[in-house]
Amino acid sequence: DLHIPAFKVADLSLAEFGRQEIDLAEHEMPGLMALRREYADTAPLRGARISGSLHMTVQTAVLIETLVALGAEVRWASCNIFSTQDHAAAAVAVGPAGTEHEPRGVPVFAWKGESLREYWWCTQQALSWPGGGPDLIVDDGGDATSLLHRGVECERAGTVPPPSAADSEEEAVVRELLARSLEMSPGRWQEAVRSVRGVSEETTTGVLRLYDMEREGGLLFPAINVNDSVTKSKFDNRYGVRHSLIDGINRATDVLIGGKTAVVCGYGDVGKGCAESLRGQGAKVTVTEIDPICALQAAMDGYPVATLEEMLPSADLVVTATGNRDIIRAEHMALMKHQAVVGNIGHFDNEIDMAGLSAFPGIRRTRVKPQVDLWTFPDGHAIIVLSEGRLLNLGNATGHPSFVMSTSFANQVIAQIELFTGAQKYPVGVHRLPKHLDERVARLHLDALGVHLTELDQRQADYIGVPVEGPYKPEHYRY
Ligand code: NAI
Repeated sequence: DLHIPAFKVADLSLAEFGRQEIDLAEHEMPGLMALRREYADTAPLRGARISGSLHMTVQTAVLIETLVALGAEVRWASCNIFSTQDHAAAAVAVGPAGTEHEPRGVPVFAWKGESLREYWWCTQQALSWPGGGPDLIVDDGGDATSLLHRGVECERAGTVPPPSAADSEEEAVVRELLARSLEMSPGRWQEAVRSVRGVSEETTTGVLRLYDMEREGGLLFPAINVNDSVTKSKFDNRYGVRHSLIDGINRATDVLIGGKTAVVCGYGDVGKGCAESLRGQGAKVTVTEIDPICALQAAMDGYPVATLEEMLPSADLVVTATGNRDIIRAEHMALMKHQAVVGNIGHFDNEIDMAGLSAFPGIRRTRVKPQVDLWTFPDGHAIIVLSEGRLLNLGNATGHPSFVMSTSFANQVIAQIELFTGAQKYPVGVHRLPKHLDERVARLHLDALGVHLTELDQRQADYIGVPVEGPYKPEHYRY
């Protein structure tokens, strides 16, 4: 258990291909590259040990190497069993100066198609530093933060809660890991957490978990909610998904989207991107919502709003984007059309009841190819489930493209610098980056798109009550 391997990826011989794609991505990630230039001399992350749990893609490789360029030591795992791009993982492990035979990069623990046990082992490796824990965490969905907190909880209680029949397979795996570390290296999680100055969290679902922990008084270190920077959730969640949703559906099925009936569950930031993307392909898109405001937005945007039950007889394609559980259940899937495509783009796989589907009496599963399964019901009709209910844009395709990830990851880098150098500004709790930094991230991306900003003159600035150099909006402004 105490043995810490150097790294673990699928295939180091993919490193050269990975490096080529990283080089291409750098050009498309002007925000990250501007931060590298700006901090080349001061290296504000010098001495920081950063543990990351975030989809190990080409774009994430540029993030990792930016953190390294700013002085950090980094260890990394993916935050999903299917989302790693093996060539990106290999290139990061080899590093720009290394070779396949002499890797000199960052310890990465990630490959596409991990088992749940391997996944949690990788997360644990990313958090394990010689002699202790990380100074900083980059998290996406909160698994790294949750493992640290649960480890500490178990050590304080001196025991791991006993397994119950209601546990998911994943919960059983985590408990087994915790029980083993309690036995093999008692106190390791409390030791690890002592050095942590904070976590920056990437996504809606992870942020929800952080606010829960804060409310219950269990949060052990400061957290920055990166998701709710405007330049994250109003860009990545929306425009990123607008690109990568249909990419996932196309690579998985190549089914024509035009003319089909598509249902998008949830009309938040991600749902808005999904609906626009499917409509762009000519689908007839219907939205489901629980929130009257988002339902009204969908209606005003021209989408019918209905319940999933109403749509089952006609839907050719159903996508969940709610961040909520049990959205598509087995009884829904049993009523869908033959070869209806079912996928989730929310963070966790509990949006689609996969356990219920596999337990459906008489059901048969046929693997068409990795991350594409045909589930045939006893009456002979079948549905196509993408990525076993896990986020399909990363499971069936390669996630969001570089440019939009540059806006997200510029926020991540700034958040890491803030947590490392400005501890007094961020006591234990969940924080957002100040608006001037949000505007700075946007600014870093304007030149590349040929945007010419209009400048306020002093009279105008005084008239609307803002400084000439910003911030331009009050906190309550919603964009
Ligand atoms: P959001 O909170 O803006 O939107 C979710 C929407 O779903 C809300 O409007 C909510 O009212 C609605 N909803 C909740 N329960 C529902 C139900 N039972 N039926 C219908 N609608 C329901 O959240 P956001 O930012 O859109 O994120 C959604 C999920 O996507 C999260 O899990 C987030 O972490 C994840 N995400 C995934 C990305 C990807 O690349 N796959 C990128 C960004 C976020």
